[in-house]
Amino acid sequence: MIHTGRHFLQIPGPTNVPDRVLRAMAQPTIDHRGPEFGELGLKLLHDVRAVFKTTQPVVIYPASGTGAWEAALVNTLSPGDAVLMVETGWFALLWEQMATRFGLKTELLPTDWRHGADPAAIEARLRADRGHEIKAVCVVHNETSTGVVSRIPAVREAIDAARHPALLFVDTISSLASIEYRMDEWGVDVTVAGSQKGLMLPPGLSFNAISERALAASKHARLPKGFWSWDDMLKANETGYFPYTPATNLLYGLRESLEILSEEGLESVFARHARHGEATRRAVRAWGLEVLCLTPAEYSGSLTAVLMPAGHDADALRARILAAFDLSLGTGLGRLKSKVFRIGHLGHFNDLMLAGTLAGVEMGLTLARVPHEPIGVRAALDYLATAAR
Ligand SMILES: Cc1ncc(COP(=O)(O)O)c(C=O)c1O
Repeated sequence: MIHTGRHFLQIPGPTNVPDRVLRAMAQPTIDHRGPEFGELGLKLLHDVRAVFKTTQPVVIYPASGTGAWEAALVNTLSPGDAVLMVETGWFALLWEQMATRFGLKTELLPTDWRHGADPAAIEARLRADRGHEIKAVCVVHNETSTGVVSRIPAVREAIDAARHPALLFVDTISSLASIEYRMDEWGVDVTVAGSQKGLMLPPGLSFNAISERALAASKHARLPKGFWSWDDMLKANETGYFPYTPATNLLYGLRESLEILSEEGLESVFARHARHGEATRRAVRAWGLEVLCLTPAEYSGSLTAVLMPAGHDADALRARILAAFDLSLGTGLGRLKSKVFRIGHLGHFNDLMLAGTLAGVEMGLTLARVPHEPIGVRAALDYLATAAR
């Protein structure tokens, strides 16, 4: 079928790239060792810190988010180190599998994939680790496979309450510039992030924001590293350069997206995402369907995972919606395959884009004969109208 108008890319990342960012990237690539690049690099490496709410160094890799996961591990840890990870969902599991491949001794605290990290369980496990074998605690802030947010300040408090020296690593790949995040205030040691979600860029850049403690740990970490070495990166970054060829045009895009975010203001960005999350959940409930996330304090402003009624396949629904309305929704990952679909409402987004997205889902539910009440869009619109900005 020929589709007209704009495709609706409502997966929870990659997200819609603003025209301003696309135009900013459509510029000639410059000499990455020339003076113009040095100025761009210095500006970006400084300005990007605001999004993390940190004054500490942020390094930018020409890589997807998976690379930044690897960088966090290999720069700080040594073979055989114990790492405590929380299995909030599919992405947390992938990070754990990577850590295992590096010969780290990983330990997974389970969840039911409908709740975030349990600070009490983290505290109990750390208290039991009297010899301080555990060198790092890894948590995914917004678990993109479930739409559940872990409460990072409470995790920090748990580590402090246990008087444990483990470093805290947080994956903010689908929360940065969408859901409130304060690296320094929350005492995070390494923040992992990516370009293709709240930053409204194409995939291809990823980030490590690095605390002083993490940097100190990197001085005696023995896992092998080449491309990911913070030392090489930070040294080159001092003058605005990279130790290898950077993704120059994506960096032009980053300069523009940081500008867009600062025009809106981060607090407004967070409020907008929270509001779209609430409108979406109202639609889901009005349809008579269930939001996967069970705890209001852990609701995600980035995405909503919706449980299908028993006997109905989420991927069949998604395929029907894509074919009929040119709307892409997120698939269920891992044990949630076929059971949930995910509505992305993050990044470059507004009320009418959400209204269109929810209308596509509602019509799709009818087409795919999924039992529901066709009043979800109405519920969302009522909320959006009363809570209009
Ligand atoms: C929370 C989270 N962590 C890690 C990743 C992996 O990032 P990438 O696919 O960019 O390598 C993703 C990807 O969606 C993610 O959502």
